[in-house]
Order: sequence, then structure tokens, then C-alpha cells
Amino acid sequence: MYKYNDFDAAFVRARCAQFRGQVERRVDGSLTEEEFRPLRLMNGLYLQLHAYMLRVAIPYGTLNPDQMDQLAYIADTWDKGYGHFTTRQNIQFNWPKLPDVPDMLDALADVEMHAIQTSGNTIRNVTADHFAGAAADEIADPRPVAELIRQWSTDHPEFQFLPRKFKVAVTGAEADRAVVRAHDIGLVLKRHNGELGAQVIVGGGLGRTPMIGKVLKDFISFGDLLPYLEAVVSVWNLLGRRDNKYKARIKITVHEHGIDDIAARVEERFALIRPDFDESALDALAQIEHFFAPPVFANKPVDAYTRAYENDRMFRAWADTNLAAHKDDGYAIVTVSTKAHGKTPGDATSAQMRVLAQAARDWGHDELRISHEQNVILPHVHKSNLPALHAALKAVDLATANIGLISDIIACPGMDYCALATARAIPVAQGIATRFDELKLEHDIGALKIKISGCINACGHHHVGHIGILGLDRAGVENYQITLGGDGTETTVIGERTGPGFAYDEIVPAIERLIAAYLEVRDHADETFLATYRRLGMGPFKAALYPPKEDSAHAA
Ligand code: HEM
Ligand code: SF4
Repeated sequence: MYKYNDFDAAFVRARCAQFRGQVERRVDGSLTEEEFRPLRLMNGLYLQLHAYMLRVAIPYGTLNPDQMDQLAYIADTWDKGYGHFTTRQNIQFNWPKLPDVPDMLDALADVEMHAIQTSGNTIRNVTADHFAGAAADEIADPRPVAELIRQWSTDHPEFQFLPRKFKVAVTGAEADRAVVRAHDIGLVLKRHNGELGAQVIVGGGLGRTPMIGKVLKDFISFGDLLPYLEAVVSVWNLLGRRDNKYKARIKITVHEHGIDDIAARVEERFALIRPDFDESALDALAQIEHFFAPPVFANKPVDAYTRAYENDRMFRAWADTNLAAHKDDGYAIVTVSTKAHGKTPGDATSAQMRVLAQAARDWGHDELRISHEQNVILPHVHKSNLPALHAALKAVDLATANIGLISDIIACPGMDYCALATARAIPVAQGIATRFDELKLEHDIGALKIKISGCINACGHHHVGHIGILGLDRAGVENYQITLGGDGTETTVIGERTGPGFAYDEIVPAIERLIAAYLEVRDHADETFLATYRRLGMGPFKAALYPPKEDSAHAA
């Protein structure tokens, strides 16, 4: 876990003090809301539908128990007792009162957290694989690189007024759990002739023009990484379309200029600025790596686990669904679902946060992660502790065995909170989860990712859902478009639209028809929805979604 140095601590405190002054001036009327807006956005404070919203960064999704407890304290003291984990490893508080926000930021600073660069046209919270440092398939822990990028990009003078927001994600494993191909820059750590470095992918993104990133450089050594990234961002800063905010993202620049032209410009810029970077970044990286040294793993029997697995059906279902392979055989990676059927995906109450913090202390080597799928991860749990952990989670409704299943839905806040929303997203997720829980089909259906956004901005990643749902406004009525076949992993694909959208009342039944069709046409029980879609294409699913009407069938 990274620990702030004196510079980090002083920097964050200074920003808190500065913002306190700005809030005071807004409260006493010396600043208008318009004048205050850019100042609050510099500190992650949005104005949503009903209230302000504070977006707090969780760099590369990593938290320690004290930080999680502090989030619970903040939720209780200045919000409504819960927080919302987002698809970008942030937590959002939906109901702060403006005069309280400086106190919230101070409370965050007490545990080395802040809301800087969680908004605005700048490099946003750097995200990473939520299984970092634990996954069996990992080549290298992506977090030291992510931290290096965080330090380089935070308050970087050249990058405070970029053409648009800029998002960087890092993975160090074969499986992509960070959706790196849908980011402005995605880094995939890899080895080349024994040396560790990164593949640089650029120009991915969701939103209104979804695009999959392209490989800009197959391998860059860590020594060259920061000047190379600086060259990429600088080239875009110069070329990026400031005339049209919808065309301002780097994906459009890459599309308009072509990847070869961008690569040539980046190389040119890189050659120019490389001499300005000394080797201190490598020293910094070595120091940072030290903070992320893996815990000492215990070597002890796993009998308690085996006994519970054999005798307790609920535990077995949970273990089969929510555990992932750890690099140490005696351990498991636990994904805790925030998606109990009928609940708001990504919401955690303060009581739940405290249980998670204590679980991490008792059984999880003091580590927690937030995933882009809006769940919480305990990356290092010895198998013998899993039954106790499961019991503790069960007590606060956190033991739902649904990771990767149909009710493990990503949903943005949509019309329930977001000022940009064109439709509701949360109730659609709740409706689908509740319906398939009633049908008791969830485990039979198997791996399936549904992702829902309440508008074209795609905060809920609907483009890369196996089933994507996009809520739109059609003449004042909510309408939901379905896309199929999207994929947010190492084989990223943007989903295809099925056809006309569905009304709010129709969307859950439409999903039900889609799933019934899948169960009908799958080759065998292990053929996933995505595999079936890839084998058969849109045909059977479209037929299920848009059955011919009785009348028109007769007329024909
Ligand atoms: C006040 C609430 C929010 C506002 C105003 C907002 C605004 C936006 C906008 C305007 C875009 C499109 C950016 C572009 O293409 O240039 C976007 C994209 C995105 N937002 Fe949000 N958002 C909000 C909340 C959220 C939440 C709650 C999440 C996570 C659940 C989220 C995650 C994302 C992601 C992942 C994208 C992906 C599109 C991309 O940049 O590739 N946002 N957001
Ligand atoms: S997708 Fe639209 S509705 Fe959902 S959070 Fe983003 S901006 Fe708001």
C-alpha cells in the first residue's frame, strides 16, 4: 500500500485549505455558482439532479481498512449512510451539503485520500486490475506503475486544461480485468527479452462514439514510460479538437489522423523531451514497488475450508461463484458482491463498509480493492478463513453468490441522481436481478455480463456488456436500446444494436425473452451467452426480442 510522503501530505492539505476558502466565499455569496463551478470541479464536487455529489478517487482501486472505515464515517457524518462505488474505482457521495464538503475533504486527507482530478479536463484517477498483486495469471503488479503515473499526472501543469478528460488504465495480467482497451491510454505490462515494460494502447473509449484502443507501441521500457506518456498526451493536447467537445477525446484524434501519424508525432516529441527526464523515475518506481511488496503468506492447512465446502451448500455456492485463483495455492481472491438482488449496484452502507474493513484486518492482510464492476475485493484471504469471512459477510447482506452472473450488473446512477441522464438505470438493474432471482435460473444461465447506462455517455459501460442496455429519452418517454456481444476483456468488442428500443415496462420482459432464447439454442450448459452469440450471431436473439405480431403474421 502506497504511503504518502511529506510532499504528498502537504500538497493535499494545502488543497483542502484552499477549497475551504473557496466554499466560504460561495456560501457568503462573494462567488456566484457560475464562478464557483470550475473551483468545485477541481475538487471532484459535482452538482447533480438533487444535490451536490462528491467523487473521491480510490487510486488503482486499492484501500486499507482505515480508509474504508473513514469512508463509512464520512457517509454517516455528512451523507445518508452509504456511498456508491463507480466503474472508475471512485466512490461517490450523493448528498453532501456544500458547507460540509471541506470537512469531508479534511477527513479524507486524514487517511491519505482526496478528490483531486476526479473531474475536469485532466488525467483522471488511474485505474488498474482489481486483482493486482494476487492473481494467479499475473505477470507483474500494475499498481506501482499506476502510482508512478498518478504522481506524474497529478497537478501536472501541462495537463490541467486538456481538450477533454483523459483516462489511463493499467493491467499486469493476461486476462484484462481493467478494460484497458476502452481507455484513452491502456497499458499492458509485459516482458521483452527479460525486461519488464508495457505495451501502450491508445484511443479507446466508450461514450457517444465507442472505440477500441489501438496498439501505439508494442513495448516501452519502464525507464522510458513517463516521457513516452507525456509525449502521447502532449501530441493530443496540441491536436485535440477544441472546437467540438464531442470530438475532443483522443480516440477521435487517433481516428482522424490515423495511428501511424500519431505514432510518428509521438516518437518525434518523445525524442525531444526524453533528455529532460533523468533516471529518477526508475528510482521512484523501485521505491514505490517496495510499498506494494506482497504480504507474507501463511502456510497452514485448509481443512476448515474443505469441511465447509463439503457440508454447507450456501458456502459452496458462494465459493464456486465469488472466489478467484490466487498466486498462492493456500489463498483465494474474494469478490464481495454489492449486488444483492434488488439492491443498487455499487452501493455500500456504512455498516457494510465497516464489516469489510474489519474482515480485511482479520482475514485479508489489510487490503481491499474496488472493481470497475462495482464490487469489493479482498485479494488475499487464506482458505481456512473463508468460512468465517462468509459468515461475517452474510450478516450484512454481502454474501450474495452472484459474481459474473446475470444479477452482477453494472449500472450508472441514471435518472436517480445524474443531471445528464435520459432514463433510469438503477431500477432496471434491480428489476432484472429480482426477476431472475425469482426464476432461480441465475446459476443455470452462467457467466453473463449485463451493463446499463442512463445516457449516451456510457458510464455504465453498456457498449462492452454481453448484454448492454442504454436508456434514452424518446419524446419524453424512457426507451431502452439493447446491444449484444460486447466484451470488456482482452478480446474487447463493442456490442451490436439489436433494433428498436423497449419501453421501461418492456425492458425486463425483453431480457427474459433473450435469456430464454439463449437457454434454448446454447450447445451445452457450459456454452456461455457470449460464446453462443459468437457462434450464432444476432438471428435467434433478434427473433426472440421482436416476435412477429399475430396480426401481421396473418396478413402475410
Ligand atoms: C455526476 C455524475 C456524472 C457525470 C456528469 C458524468 C459525465 C460523463 C460524461 C459527460 C461522459 C462522456 C465523456 C466523453 O465522452 O467525453 C462520461 C463517461 C464516463 N463516465 Fe461518467 N458521469 C457521471 C457519473 C459517472 C459514474 C457514476 C460512473 C460510474 C458508474 C462514471 C463512469 C464513466 C465512464 C466509465 C465513462 C466512459 C466513457 C469514456 O470516457 O470512455 N461516470 N461521464
Ligand atoms: S451514463 Fe449518463 S446517466 Fe449514467 S452516470 Fe453517465 S452521464 Fe449520468
